[in-house]
Amino acid sequence: MLDQRLLPNREVYRLYRDSADVIRAIKELVVRGAPAIGVAAAMGLALGARSLPGDRFSRDFEKLCRAFAAARPTAVNLFWAIERMRRVVRENGQRPVDTLRTLLEREALTIYEEDLDANRRLSEHGAALLPRKGTILTHCNAGGLATAGIGTALGVIVAARDAGKKISVFADETRPVLQGARLTAWELRRERIPVTVITDNMAGHFMQRGKIDAVIVGTDRTAANGDVANKIGTYSVAVLAARHKIPFYVAAPTSSIDLACKNGEKIPIEERSPDEVSHVNGKMLTPRGVKIANPAFDVTPHELVTAIITENGVARPPYSKSLARLVGGAGAGDAPVRKRRST
Ligand code: MRU
Repeated sequence: MLDQRLLPNREVYRLYRDSADVIRAIKELVVRGAPAIGVAAAMGLALGARSLPGDRFSRDFEKLCRAFAAARPTAVNLFWAIERMRRVVRENGQRPVDTLRTLLEREALTIYEEDLDANRRLSEHGAALLPRKGTILTHCNAGGLATAGIGTALGVIVAARDAGKKISVFADETRPVLQGARLTAWELRRERIPVTVITDNMAGHFMQRGKIDAVIVGTDRTAANGDVANKIGTYSVAVLAARHKIPFYVAAPTSSIDLACKNGEKIPIEERSPDEVSHVNGKMLTPRGVKIANPAFDVTPHELVTAIITENGVARPPYSKSLARLVGGAGAGDAPVRKRRST
């Protein structure tokens, strides 16, 4: 894995031989971004299966699935990929353990290849929505680093450029982990797409000045009604876009759409370490002992979303109908869903 914590200053690849280390890599953001987390978990499970003893393989594999499922709560791709791997064991329980290990490796590679293909198809659908010439704002990183392929939101931008459109990008820096400043800017520079990094609180200013033609972001989990969980700060961008009548697009491979989750209130929001907020490059910025909140994601209500772009086509409101039509196949198994708050 390319260690994303060190980008853009250092490009360090890590080799994992133990599934426990893959789980840690997901928790600590060596690999991040919903589709990439799903692929990494599938690969990690195939890796872990190699060293599980044959006599209690199914039981130990289930334990491993649960350990991966506990890595991060919001991106549904994680649970979707684990469920695909689990099904391989469930449906082939009678076969020799070596065959199961081979089938698991094959399934992990299929998940990887499907993501590549979904990126490509989604990007083509999305590219058609962008203007011939214009500036697109994005938040966080939904590029190749966050997926197996060319990315989702950034894939759309790359495909639009490849189709001859004159696109430039404003990248929100995306506090506190700076996925925009560090990762999106790094990817776009490599793609030779003009990019301007802004701090998160500048988006409204540039929209007011007419500098932004469209917004496109990725998603960690989109509910059946079209509510979109994505990196913290996405909701504020969507509100600003609505205020300025700028289209707000979400690039969502179907692996990130959770039809079992009725609405955004039910999406669990990861709370990460306060250190991510209080420290920058190991230097403490806040007074010692001050309270800190660090929700990693927020939910953008579906009314603020102009369209949701999947590999199977573009969903428009009402999303409860259009998403159900575009998403086929398996659910996400034991994806945590937040219990309704008692009143
Ligand atoms: O905490 P992260 O960096 O894993 O959060 C990533 C995001 O919020 C992305 O926008 C989302 O996963 C979509 S990536 C195609």
